Amino acid sequence: MTTFDTGLDLSSPDFKRNAYAIYNRLRREDPVFETILPDGRKAWMCTRYDDVLAALKDNERFTKNLQSLSPEEYDSVLPRKEMELLSNHMLSADPPDHTRLRAIVSRAFTPQLVDHMEPDIRRIADGLIDRIAEKGSMEAIADFAFPLPILVIGQMLGIPEEDHMLLKKWSSDFIAAANDRNKMKEAAPSFQAFGQYIQAMIAERRKSPRSDLTSLLIDAHDSGDRLSAAELSSTIWLLILAGHETTVNLIGNGIFALLENPDQMRLWQNDPSLTITAVEELLRYYSPVEIATARWAGRDFDWYGKNVNRGDVIFVNLASANRDPEHFGHPDRLDLSRKKNKHVAFGSGIHFCLGAPLARLEAQIALSALLQRLPNIRLEGTFDEIRWRPGILMRGLERLPVAF
Ligand code: HEM
Repeated sequence: MTTFDTGLDLSSPDFKRNAYAIYNRLRREDPVFETILPDGRKAWMCTRYDDVLAALKDNERFTKNLQSLSPEEYDSVLPRKEMELLSNHMLSADPPDHTRLRAIVSRAFTPQLVDHMEPDIRRIADGLIDRIAEKGSMEAIADFAFPLPILVIGQMLGIPEEDHMLLKKWSSDFIAAANDRNKMKEAAPSFQAFGQYIQAMIAERRKSPRSDLTSLLIDAHDSGDRLSAAELSSTIWLLILAGHETTVNLIGNGIFALLENPDQMRLWQNDPSLTITAVEELLRYYSPVEIATARWAGRDFDWYGKNVNRGDVIFVNLASANRDPEHFGHPDRLDLSRKKNKHVAFGSGIHFCLGAPLARLEAQIALSALLQRLPNIRLEGTFDEIRWRPGILMRGLERLPVAF
């Protein structure tokens, strides 16, 4: 078995460009790849579908709760106050805390709430297309893929539109820091401002409740249990972040994949009944979350003959699993009518994406509307000019200029 160079920089633009070819080799030759992160920590990345699925379902060897694993490291990330306000959510919790938190939040963030958003999502998508339809061109990330999900989650939580740019800055500072711990200190003012913003929003809703998701979360309870103040603000922050940094990539990467595969785009344009399988295939093909959020080894163990130590960072590579030929026929081919498609773009196990129904609905509506209303959509410039954003966890484009 080959061992790959631990210096491979998973966040570099170069890596992002060649990642799928590298994953092909890693799956075959070095399925648990050892790497050293820019801040010096050791990390292990699994790339095979079966290992990815097993890791996502294994809450014993792998923990999400850094506070219980290593209180010193937890304390060194950010001042305690910000950590309290922002990291007490389900995605940083193991059972039984996770079970409790997810049950309470699921009482407020329900499939029915998502269904009710359908006409609003259509209105938002159409409004964005109205703004650019006459212009003949747009930058599809800034003009369409980014604003749509933030307008949707912003409306659900009751956040005024004029504050959306602030949220954008705070959450992209967070993602930069999650990719590289060295950036944590630089990002501290953004965390502080984000925490204060959410606190003020909660205080205001406590005084004057509305019918939005923020008020529903304040009220939500399960078996008599409610979210604590820290859990409430952390949950709202998680929903804002998830609403911001993921669906934008599904829509942006989706448009890009269609432009790369014009025959598939035409197939969908001519047969709108493909919408459901098309969005699933786009989730698989360029997975918006490339690597699941960090886990840590909860104990020492042997993995493919390698010694993983308690506290090592574990990267579970969803994008690679979604191109594993053991599970997908012709994995590098975009096939919008693919039937057998058990992709892991939304994760699996207890942390399976709570927002999946919302993300799916947003992408189905947004991409169908775009293809129907701008039938001649095409890339402006060349494919060589398109750049993936640097960073470990996400796969998304810097810019996507299109004409129509
Ligand atoms: C295309 C869009 C999206 C993708 C690809 C995506 C992907 C994921 C993935 C892979 C996870 C699991 C992470 C892990 O195990 O480390 C996750 C968890 C989560 N996602 Fe999403 N997500 C998307 C959109 C959303 C939206 C729109 C929301 C809500 C507004 C949301 C809310 C959540 C929450 C709350 C969790 C944590 C679940 C838990 O820990 O039990 N996501 N998502």
